[in-house]
Amino acid sequence: MGKNCGVGCILVCFGGMILGLLALWIASGRIYMSAIGDPGMETDDLRVAIESWNQCNEVGEEAPNMGSPRMADCFDVQHHPCNGEPPLNHQVREWENRLGMKRKPQDMFETEIINRYAAWKELYLGRKCQASDYQFWMIMLKNGNMDTTAAMCPNNGYESKPFPQSPEFPCFGKGCMNMPSMYHNYTKGYCKSKTMIMKGGFYGSWDLDVDAKEAIHMNDTSYYSVTWEKELCKGSWVFHNLLKTSSKYPWLMLYLRSDATKGFSAGYHYESRGMTQVVPKSPHFKVRFTLDIKQGGGPKSQFYLIDIGSCWKNNGEPCDGDVTSDVTRYSEMIINPEIEAWCKPDQLKQCPPYHTFANGTRVHRTNTTHFPHDAYHIYRAPGNAKYLEEPVKTSDPYSNPQPQEILQILPHPVWGEYGYPTKKGEGWVGDPRTWKLDVGRLSQSLYFYQASLTKISCIIYLNMREFLNFGNDLFTCLMQDPGTTPVERNWTSINVGTEIYISDVGHVAEWTVSNFDILVPWTLS
Ligand SMILES: *[C@@H]1O[C@H](CO)[C@@H](O)[C@H](O)[C@H]1NC(C)=O
Ligand SMILES: *[C@@H]1O[C@H](CO)[C@@H](O)[C@H](O)[C@H]1NC(C)=O
Ligand SMILES: *[C@@H]1O[C@H](CO)[C@@H](O)[C@H](O)[C@H]1NC(C)=O
Ligand SMILES: *[C@@H]1O[C@H](CO)[C@@H](O)[C@H](O)[C@H]1NC(C)=O
Ligand SMILES: *[C@@H]1O[C@H](CO)[C@@H](O)[C@H](O)[C@H]1NC(C)=O
Repeated sequence: MGKNCGVGCILVCFGGMILGLLALWIASGRIYMSAIGDPGMETDDLRVAIESWNQCNEVGEEAPNMGSPRMADCFDVQHHPCNGEPPLNHQVREWENRLGMKRKPQDMFETEIINRYAAWKELYLGRKCQASDYQFWMIMLKNGNMDTTAAMCPNNGYESKPFPQSPEFPCFGKGCMNMPSMYHNYTKGYCKSKTMIMKGGFYGSWDLDVDAKEAIHMNDTSYYSVTWEKELCKGSWVFHNLLKTSSKYPWLMLYLRSDATKGFSAGYHYESRGMTQVVPKSPHFKVRFTLDIKQGGGPKSQFYLIDIGSCWKNNGEPCDGDVTSDVTRYSEMIINPEIEAWCKPDQLKQCPPYHTFANGTRVHRTNTTHFPHDAYHIYRAPGNAKYLEEPVKTSDPYSNPQPQEILQILPHPVWGEYGYPTKKGEGWVGDPRTWKLDVGRLSQSLYFYQASLTKISCIIYLNMREFLNFGNDLFTCLMQDPGTTPVERNWTSINVGTEIYISDVGHVAEWTVSNFDILVPWTLS
């Protein structure tokens, strides 16, 4: 940011940083630093990319004339007094954004596989956008339709077989898993009464036969757009997001992701690129951002105040791209007040086996008076786990390239300790807030299969359960998947956005995200 803003700004920024650090230090007894390349979204030289996924996080087939669904808008500002349109030096050209299997200059990437092509294109765009140690913010789109008769999505990482369409897997017919159209307004500078505003965006529709520019106003037509805007040298980029479902596309997702700058980020079995330079680990990290939800997206909009994603194997080892043993782990705080706790005393299969309070006290889900059922929407165990505690529901085996584990939580007093909403409606439409979430400590306390059962916690857990006469689970507890070591919970993806889940009519969600930062303990390296 320094090179654009002159000395005054450097001093202000630097002074601000020192004060900020001091404040944090005093507040927490620990010095924190930003883990990401663009702390607080304040860097004028923006780096942003977009990606689109089908139900199993792949491409499947490119949309006609769109290229492979990875694009980027990355530029440096050439500083300029405000007397005309100040020039931005763009690093990615239109022909590069349009690269695809169907329209390639031959041999650009050495692959004939459509899914792999997208992964290569992401690395290529990453090289073009590379800024010191990071590449870009990632906007992620996903179409939840699944053609079960096409067997395009693997079953827990294994090849799947076709089966008849059922309501849990929406699909209007052949081609329902398509990629959306993807149009790009390159970021431009505008002078507005002596201040310079920079603005750009991506938009499109999954309905490929309509004019994407009009789709926002058209009845029963899907649409998405993300625009970003910032005043030069001042404040944060503001990302304005819009997502609209339709009867053909009733299940859509749009997130802003801070992914790791290397390695496998969550939900993805190829090397990917991103914004997070230091992968945060539980329990020591915090996430700060401003969220202003303007339209909620209807009763099924699972708006994620925050969604954290990672990947590790059931035996505690890091993921290596083997989709049969890698397990994607997600935890999400849903803030739509219309989403209810499915975990109930008589629906224990929707709950994690136990809850850990902030003071370390662990309560089993059968302890109806003490277990906070209302704090949990659902728990879904990994489909390849061998020693699950009954009753249990395993995750949808098709919606990820590998098995996955999902824990969705809801606003509840038990999360207040970590700065999360404690009551339904907090932070929802008409209640914009700047959150500072202790995601590190909260995620350390969450149940994940096997992962949190270190020997000691296992023994405490067993003592409690034996004492309470729940039967002897010694075998289950100690015989988690073999070769287990306590897992270091590294969170390679941290996202904000919504998943509008299958609904009968179209819905619109609209929100802005700004000031996003991830804070980790300061280290010398
Ligand atoms: C793209 O640019 C056009 C023309 O300036 C504008 O009308 C439209 O709102 C922009 N869309 C996005 C998503 O940025
Ligand atoms: C809009 O679309 C819905 C769903 O397809 C349909 O029921 C309704 O009649 C349409 N309305 C108009 C004004 O076309
Ligand atoms: C977590 O990250 C560290 C590096 O910081 C790595 O050594 C470890 O293997 C990772 N663990 C998992 C389970 O991915
Ligand atoms: C821990 O917190 C829970 C919930 O607030 C409370 O019921 C319990 O008594 C506390 N335990 C200890 C040891 O303080
Ligand atoms: C439920 O959990 C509380 C808090 O840990 C504990 O004091 C109590 O004994 C448990 N009750 C039963 C029936 O398990």
